[in-house]
Amino acid sequence: MSQETGEQVVIVVGAGPAGLATAACLASLSIPYMLIEREDLYAPIWTKKSYDRLHLHLAKHFCELPHMPMPAEYPTYVPRVEFVQYLDNYVRKFHIKPLYNRSVIGAEYEEVSQKWHIKVHNSMSDESEEYQTRFLIVATGETSDTFVPDVEGLHTFSGRVIHSTQYKSGKEFSGQNVLVIGSGNSGMEIAFDLSNFGAKTSIVVRSPIHILSKGMAHLGLTLLKYLPHDFVDSLLLFLSKIYYGDLRKYGIERPKESPFYLKDKYGKYPVFDVGTYKKIKSGEIQVLPAVTSIKGDEVFFKDGKSHAFDVIIFATGFKRSTTQWLKGDDYLLGDDGISKQEFPNHWKGKNGLYCVGLARKGLYGIHMDAKLVADHIKTSAML
Ligand SMILES: Cc1cc2nc3c(=O)[nH]c(=O)nc-3n(C[C@H](O)[C@H](O)[C@H](O)COP(=O)(O)OP(=O)(O)OC[C@H]3O[C@@H](n4cnc5c(N)ncnc54)[C@H](O)[C@@H]3O)c2cc1C
Ligand SMILES: *[C@@H]1O[C@H](CO)[C@@H](O)[C@H](O)[C@H]1NC(C)=O
Repeated sequence: MSQETGEQVVIVVGAGPAGLATAACLASLSIPYMLIEREDLYAPIWTKKSYDRLHLHLAKHFCELPHMPMPAEYPTYVPRVEFVQYLDNYVRKFHIKPLYNRSVIGAEYEEVSQKWHIKVHNSMSDESEEYQTRFLIVATGETSDTFVPDVEGLHTFSGRVIHSTQYKSGKEFSGQNVLVIGSGNSGMEIAFDLSNFGAKTSIVVRSPIHILSKGMAHLGLTLLKYLPHDFVDSLLLFLSKIYYGDLRKYGIERPKESPFYLKDKYGKYPVFDVGTYKKIKSGEIQVLPAVTSIKGDEVFFKDGKSHAFDVIIFATGFKRSTTQWLKGDDYLLGDDGISKQEFPNHWKGKNGLYCVGLARKGLYGIHMDAKLVADHIKTSAML
């Protein structure tokens, strides 16, 4: 790997699973690169920002990174700790040494030198660093910056407010009145965990959601290899309807569109049920409509009612800030920081710009993208 001088062949931004996979593929082809990470460790989502009970949502063979299978002794749904162990071994195997504490704050292509000029903020020295590179790979993730909606009166809330990324376990919330805002996978799983630890748990389900069991999701992904997308989608919807029945009496509506359609079109994942549904049905977890405002410890809801809470957990997801630093790209990434080109041509931009893991295909997509990008750089640079 190159030393940290200004001139680079390849710069990879972000040392999450996507950046690590890319680094491994480049290393396997003996292509020198520099990997830049704003935090002080790799895969921070998994190593420090996740809750204790987190597992990979998908079966392990959909979650492997290139050139290294998951250990045979791992369970089908790999727990966080084992996944981190796998990443540790991965980093060791491919001698990956990210440059830490560095945020990329600017990247611009210069026609004359035909190079990308990269501006980096070093949070240790609080100074700027500059690099030039022929190839730039964006691997900053689909969930790079936390998002909290602007709720009226949130600043008056007398209890504790956290984002789902700060949530570790329900242990510390036992006996407390906790409101989870956001009913995606994080919100649903956090609600389940809170309730397991004896917190009086409520969850806001604002818009319609699909709930699938892990078995259904697995079946769906497997069938997709052999059967048309629409067919599998309808099958899943059918199974979900039979298994979960009408959820409206619990405050949950189903979307009109089918699960995979919503995922591919809008990046809206179905909820993979970890046990939350049973608790909703039994009343252990209360479902509430959208929040309208907050005053002191009272939270007001769309149905006109209000309830008091000790804690609010925002599981409202993320936004992406790529457009703030990546200049002059109107081809590869959209304003939302997600690949603009249709799969499977989503990874290749112009002027040596690429992205890995930004096409809403999870770790499976990362695996594919990283290989394609490294191979493409190998051939186009004749390295
Ligand atoms: C709770 C949860 C469970 C999931 N389960 C699965 C699963 O089972 N299967 C699956 O396939 N996928 C799953 N995913 C989705 C996805 O695979 C993971 O989020 C994965 O971590 C994505 O890897 P990534 O490298 O693309 O992004 P990230 O892990 O977000 O890594 C991006 C990195 O880029 C860094 N970065 C961002 N901006 C900058 C910048 N400007 N300068 C420098 N560094 C920067 C970040 O600090 C971070 O380290 C899950 C996601 C979550 C949140
Ligand atoms: C990154 O910065 C933190 C403090 O901001 C420091 O503790 C840590 O040692 C730094 N890590 C590296 C690898 O430079």
